Amino acid sequence: MPLPARLRRLTPVALRDDPRLRAVAVGAGLIPPRTMHSEAESRLLGELARDARLVVEIGVYEGSSAVALARAMGPAQELHLVDPFGHHPTALPSGWGATERASRRVVARAARDGGPRVVWHVALSQDVAPTWAAHVDLLFIDGDHSAEGVRRDWDDWHGFVAPGGHVLFHDARLGRPDGRGLEGPTGVVDALLRGPDGPPPGWAIAAEVDRTVAVRFDG
Ligand SMILES: C[S@@+](CC[C@H](N)C(=O)[O-])C[C@H]1O[C@@H](n2cnc3c(N)ncnc32)[C@H](O)[C@@H]1O
Repeated sequence: MPLPARLRRLTPVALRDDPRLRAVAVGAGLIPPRTMHSEAESRLLGELARDARLVVEIGVYEGSSAVALARAMGPAQELHLVDPFGHHPTALPSGWGATERASRRVVARAARDGGPRVVWHVALSQDVAPTWAAHVDLLFIDGDHSAEGVRRDWDDWHGFVAPGGHVLFHDARLGRPDGRGLEGPTGVVDALLRGPDGPPPGWAIAAEVDRTVAVRFDG
């Protein structure tokens, strides 16, 4: 049973952000995983995951988007979660970090009643990609937010996306009138999809919501 939000707000910020305390409380279900996306983004994740046979999320942190994905998916579907855990300066604000154990417990609770088969890859996405072989229907890029990291995730993974599948970039709408984002993901998305030649052949922007850009592959 989660603690009431009123009580949680009384906790000093230094305590609320302490990774070890958070891991205990998040893992036990006393507080929810930190929400890193809006309700509209959560709906988009759910809509695209609903009919996807296989979903890959790069960057799990405390599991809030993985929960949104798991809740939209059923037992015939696979959710692959890629995160090395610990602190990564180009992925999270200073001092933040999640633990494998707590995030596993969060996702297991979300997937336990009729949810997808969950497969964890506790590793860097660039180390998982060379071992990967399956078609991917939805790829959520939300790991290393440096320009090099986002570009590497696109380069390493987009070739696995099946026709009709999508890639979602998070934090990729910096400077858009209704958007937000960070320089790394926004720069990669702008160069890749909004340049004078348009998106790569077969790819098109399918949706833009808050900080997220969804790109569809039509084959
Ligand atoms: C912004 S958080 C992810 C947020 C999560 N998707 C959510 O909405 O709750 C970024 C995460 O990416 C992870 N990360 C950093 N570099 C990575 C890499 N090269 N491959 C996979 N994950 C990475 C970090 O450990 C961190 O947990």
